[in-house]
Amino acid sequence: MSETHENLLLHGDNLTALRELRANFTGAISCVYLDPPFNTGRLFAEYKDSLGAEAWVRMMRPRLEALVPLLREDGAVFVEIDDTQLGELLRVMDETFGAKNRISLITVVRSASTGHKAINPGPIHVSDFILAYAKDKKKWRYRPQVRVREGLDRAYTTWLDNPDAPHETWTFRTLRSAIAAELGFASPREAAAHLGKSAFAAKLTTETLARAHHVVRFAQPRYEAISRAAQTVVDRSRAAPTKVFRLAREGRPPFLVRGGNRILFLRDKVRELDGRLNVVEPLTNVWTDVPFQGIAREGGVVFSRNKKPERLLERVIAMASDPGDWVLDPFLGSGTTAAVAHKMNRRWIGIESGDHLLSLAKPRLERVIRGDDATGITRRAGFRGGGSFVTREVSE
Ligand SMILES: C[S@@+](CC[C@H](N)C(=O)[O-])C[C@H]1O[C@@H](n2cnc3c(N)ncnc32)[C@H](O)[C@@H]1O
Repeated sequence: MSETHENLLLHGDNLTALRELRANFTGAISCVYLDPPFNTGRLFAEYKDSLGAEAWVRMMRPRLEALVPLLREDGAVFVEIDDTQLGELLRVMDETFGAKNRISLITVVRSASTGHKAINPGPIHVSDFILAYAKDKKKWRYRPQVRVREGLDRAYTTWLDNPDAPHETWTFRTLRSAIAAELGFASPREAAAHLGKSAFAAKLTTETLARAHHVVRFAQPRYEAISRAAQTVVDRSRAAPTKVFRLAREGRPPFLVRGGNRILFLRDKVRELDGRLNVVEPLTNVWTDVPFQGIAREGGVVFSRNKKPERLLERVIAMASDPGDWVLDPFLGSGTTAAVAHKMNRRWIGIESGDHLLSLAKPRLERVIRGDDATGITRRAGFRGGGSFVTREVSE
């Protein structure tokens, strides 16, 4: 039923709005992100952030409960918080969604250890947390995410000369000597002497990434964890250590072994992101790579200290929804979630009670649609404008 609905900007209290949404959006929402007031005791230009712990729980509980009927059976909820109400939030979410449906407690590092935060008597607080729960963890599907690794993976030190030839004929050298030779030098030492150490190191990085199908590492398999067939191949390989052995596997890349060690290709870890090749690794529940600095101009809106980076929402939305799915944010603020969902080709609903819905979020989303917002994830998402939304007042 919700297929016929347009993207929605709702102005008013989110509890009333969430209850109203039941009429058309029961079981329709794939991903909900909430960035509620953290109860920091501060007075922001746009709203007051001091309720007291019990009043804060009384505010949050019915709003979380109101999400349950709106979620798809395979949907999930993500709530961002700092440590002021973390304990209460964990308890309320366990009670609302069930502790067994907790997906993750993510730590988001948002700043460096500088400035006023040092007034806290104890370690300096630099993180937010995101509590992620599935409506039903058995039905929820994680869309695997990666993060860019700093520099190269130093374990990949070997060059395979002839990856396209039959595996029985493969020959190997050290990565450094192969790349020195590619650059026309007799040895890495000669390359470093001629080019300078740092220029050679830079060349090593670019060439390694560009020719990652030649670059491998050898890794000892966990013998007890591999199949019987793989164990047999490992045993044979140990007996003939210079030969490469190959075991074909249904629906998976072949198991390649030399000297009892698996051959792993760097190409499986290289992705093009933002027009650059990078080595990536699986995402963990500690996010240190989403910059909170430099987002003041994102979306063309000023929303002091509260605005979240588009990159953060991109990650949440990417792990919990597919194009065309519905994304909901009941504490929309300056409109970040809606802007990102729009750029990622999701459908969205944003709810905000403050007047900044009209002064910040709405104009921001209009710029997105006109193709006038080049900030945030616009380029990464390949978004060029288009689409529409409707704005409605929530009934009193
Ligand atoms: C931390 S800010 C959200 C910031 C947002 N993630 C962004 O990137 O701009 C929390 C927002 O929730 C809004 N809010 C608080 N209580 C609300 C309620 N009961 N209904 C709707 N919005 C509410 C506040 O006005 C504020 O804009």
